Amino acid sequence: MSTIPDASRRHVLSAVAWPYANGPRHIGHVAGFGVPSDVFSRYMRMAGHEVLMVSGSDEHGTPILIAADEAGLSPQELVDLNHRRIVEDLVGLGLTYDLYTRTTTLNHHAVVQELFTGVYENGYFVEQTTKGAISPSTGRTLPDRYIEGTCPICGYDGARGDQCDNCGNQLDPDQLINPKSKINGETPEFIETQHFFLDLPALAEALGAWLDEREATGLWRPNVIRFSQNILKEIRPRAMTRDIDWGIAIPLDGWRENPTKKLYVWFDAVVGYLSASIEWARRSGDPEAWRSWWNDPEALSYYFMGKDNITFHSQIWPAELLAYNGRGTLGGEAHELGELNLPTEVVSSEFLTMEGKKFSSSRKVVIYVQDLLARYQPDAFRYFVAVAGPESQDSDFSWAEFVRRTNDELVAGWGNLVNRTATLIHKNFGEVPAAGELTESETALLATIAAGFETVGGFIGAHRQKAAIGEAMRLVGEANKFVSDTEPWKLAKTATPGSADRDRLATILHVMAQAVHDLNLILSPFLPFSANEVSRALGGDGTVAPLPRVVEASDLDDPSRGYPIITGDYTSAPAWASSPVAVGAAVGKPTPIFTKLDPSIVEEELARLG
Ligand code: MF3
Ligand code: ZN
Repeated sequence: MSTIPDASRRHVLSAVAWPYANGPRHIGHVAGFGVPSDVFSRYMRMAGHEVLMVSGSDEHGTPILIAADEAGLSPQELVDLNHRRIVEDLVGLGLTYDLYTRTTTLNHHAVVQELFTGVYENGYFVEQTTKGAISPSTGRTLPDRYIEGTCPICGYDGARGDQCDNCGNQLDPDQLINPKSKINGETPEFIETQHFFLDLPALAEALGAWLDEREATGLWRPNVIRFSQNILKEIRPRAMTRDIDWGIAIPLDGWRENPTKKLYVWFDAVVGYLSASIEWARRSGDPEAWRSWWNDPEALSYYFMGKDNITFHSQIWPAELLAYNGRGTLGGEAHELGELNLPTEVVSSEFLTMEGKKFSSSRKVVIYVQDLLARYQPDAFRYFVAVAGPESQDSDFSWAEFVRRTNDELVAGWGNLVNRTATLIHKNFGEVPAAGELTESETALLATIAAGFETVGGFIGAHRQKAAIGEAMRLVGEANKFVSDTEPWKLAKTATPGSADRDRLATILHVMAQAVHDLNLILSPFLPFSANEVSRALGGDGTVAPLPRVVEASDLDDPSRGYPIITGDYTSAPAWASSPVAVGAAVGKPTPIFTKLDPSIVEEELARLG
């Protein structure tokens, strides 16, 4: 069931999509890939793998320019603000990045330029004169995605200049029928302009072979592999440079100095996975350490994103890698970064809607991560994402469902089990009691729960987190049923010191503590904050689930520039296996771990929406 080919310890890259720094992030952004990538990474670390989880803020491209204009800020000022906000959101959700950085670092610029140079020297860029759009009223270049018109392939009338969301094909703006500027509605004017095109047809065979090999594993989600193979049929050269003044310079004489030509934001952003790995290694004190995840053919890499990003991860990024490696029909050789690994798996989620509608900041159909975290527990949200997120089909977030899931499942199920266990132990023993002889049903219960490591872990490793949390909560239910059936609170009344009833009570409470202890580990990838509290409630040290932290770092290549990063030491996570609960650990009076939500918040929250 697990994605890992064999039980051996592997280097595992968790490559998480880079959020645009054009504004604060809403819960739709983090539900699809943010939380799931963290659940996966936490589990893989506990399962003994060497995980490197990287991402950062995506800070170039036109959406940033437009947002900066609207805010009256320079693009750098805007991304400085938004990067910091996004960092706070992601840390608040407990996402365990080894490095969360940004694309405006000098390291990123240098790595992107190295990639470009390698691809260029291997011959996979074609220089072409094309039609670029400008706004007739302002004379400024009009970015592809801000032009809308009818798709020449499927006839959909809301196609953008870069891509048709209906048929998924990539487009150039001058192909659109009846193009209009989304900014002011005017018809763009097309002028001649020079660009570098990635020679995708020369890479198509290698891409196809890679996709066939990935398909044969049977591990990719069917919609993702199908979509990826489909777009390969329409493959043609794609411009990897833009007429724009915000981005990474084109590292060629005569181009580098041109202030209005930059690398296309998507050429640059996907390289972030590699540049962030390199930055992490440089900060770790072993600057070559990243190679274990990128040059070792045994290493595994999982890319987490929403479905609108599939093209860039299953075509553009692998094509950049193949071209850099010299693996297309034009040949070539690997450059200084060596032969780079292609993705093992593109793990794409579907979309989350909000109260049945598409998220929209302008129409106020939105809840920002920071607002959610200000009012609710991060684990309540993480739980909702795990049970009801857009894993393999679109799903809806509604406040009524959020309240129901939190109260009926998290509080009444898991919270109740923990609370009953800690309360009974506290009242009767003050510490986790040793067990006498276990009954058959007690032995069976603990065996069932211990077997959960295998089943739940298998589901998480195969990116089936809904099934994983479902199985974990089923085991919580078994444990709760055991408690209801044995009614230890009744026994407590007759369990006088030295009596047989007291031995029985000790055994039952020990079994409950053992069940909670194991279930807590099984749930910890999903519920890291409460996992630490549960550990403390049973007299543990509360270090079951390591948490990320924000560090104010300075740019490695220009110490005068600083920026916040997310990092952490996640090596303390316990092994993914049943382990004995600590007998004798002091158990104090517990306080409820999960907050029960008042149903009135549904009205309140709905009133906040537009
Ligand atoms: N910024 C893009 C988005 O939010 C995602 C970029 S993923 C990357 O859709 F890897 F390319 F950076
Ligand atoms: Zn179309």
